[in-house]
Amino acid sequence: TRAALAFSGGLDTTVCVPLLKEEYGYDEVIGVTVDVGQPEAEFDEAAETAEALDVEHYVVDAREEFANQCLESVRANATYQGYPLGTALARPVIAKAILEVAKEQNCDALAHGCTGKGNDQLRFEAVWRASEMEVAAPVRDLGLTREWEIEYAEGKGLPVESGNEGVWSIDTNLWSRSVEGGKLEDPSYVPPEEIYEWTQPPTGETELLEITFEDGYPVAVDGEEYGSAELIQHLNDVAGAHGVGRTDMMEDRMLGLKVRENYEHPAATVLLNAHAGLEQLVLTKEELDFKTTVDNEWAQKGYEGLVDAPVVAALEGFIDETQTKVTGTVTIKLEGGQARVVGRESDYAVYSESAASFNTETVDGIEQSDATGVAKYHGFQSRLANEVTKKVAES
Ligand code: ARG
Ligand code: SIN
Repeated sequence: TRAALAFSGGLDTTVCVPLLKEEYGYDEVIGVTVDVGQPEAEFDEAAETAEALDVEHYVVDAREEFANQCLESVRANATYQGYPLGTALARPVIAKAILEVAKEQNCDALAHGCTGKGNDQLRFEAVWRASEMEVAAPVRDLGLTREWEIEYAEGKGLPVESGNEGVWSIDTNLWSRSVEGGKLEDPSYVPPEEIYEWTQPPTGETELLEITFEDGYPVAVDGEEYGSAELIQHLNDVAGAHGVGRTDMMEDRMLGLKVRENYEHPAATVLLNAHAGLEQLVLTKEELDFKTTVDNEWAQKGYEGLVDAPVVAALEGFIDETQTKVTGTVTIKLEGGQARVVGRESDYAVYSESAASFNTETVDGIEQSDATGVAKYHGFQSRLANEVTKKVAES
């Protein structure tokens, strides 16, 4: 029997290899690492660790698929409690890629190294449990702690680097870098500068960026077209240098636990701000108001790792319809850790300069004085209600 393990080469997934044999009785374990834009070094670490463990190792490139999913989330203005969903959106992509490899390699089981306290176990298994395969979660099933894992790894002579393991738990992909655990578990502990890798402390310099959207998808920066992954990578570099996209938050996990999370997401911040800025120009107030509700539902399902839920397709029906008008260019100013919208233009602008201007008298034959009747009625019902209440109180 064979098990396919979601493998990063970190402490959790490394101890899972012998445990899947010893505790679950699988004859063979294969490790699968899915590329969703982690730094190169992580693939080297995974490959080296797999070799030392004598585990067959597969790497699947899902960068472009994941990048497209991230840009889909921009059309839904998707954040969860302020977090742009990097880890959350990556998990289904990773889970599907691993399932494919497991089928090709005639595996009987799928395994992950997630804890029983987090979100990731739920996101992986939501995909995997649609298959016939067994699911094994050693860290959760055996109730492992990181301390136990370190001792076990030392006892077995497993290849874990003592340096970074145990300090922070880090999860990186194109859309966000998450740092948690260790001293950061104390919500009052101020994160040291060293936890950041994508963002510099703001420099005092400023920079303008022009982001071009077509049908709600960002397609160009400063007039230059990019593929999805390259566009995100480019903006991470440019905006990260200005300290854009740091989030330090208390996050409500699906199981109900609050956790302290730190994230870096420069490109996500730029694109989400720019996209929202363009929607303000081209959508009517009613569309904007209702879209807030649709977007919140999309983000909730995204956080849960359930982007394949039927309701998401239905929400995207509304989103697609609105995005046919989200074509245009937004100017973003990078300054002091912020990415602010400072200009926007579109052929679809629901905006009339002459109608809104203080300097024109009539618009489409409507005079300023035509508003007098509206002003007389405005608040009529509230005034009446308050008067009635007062009268009843006095009587
Ligand atoms: N809490 C975040 C989420 O559920 C990210 C978790 C990332 N994992 C990590 N080991 N840092 O999407
Ligand atoms: C874990 O608990 O395995 C990582 C964090 C999470 O899944 O939320």
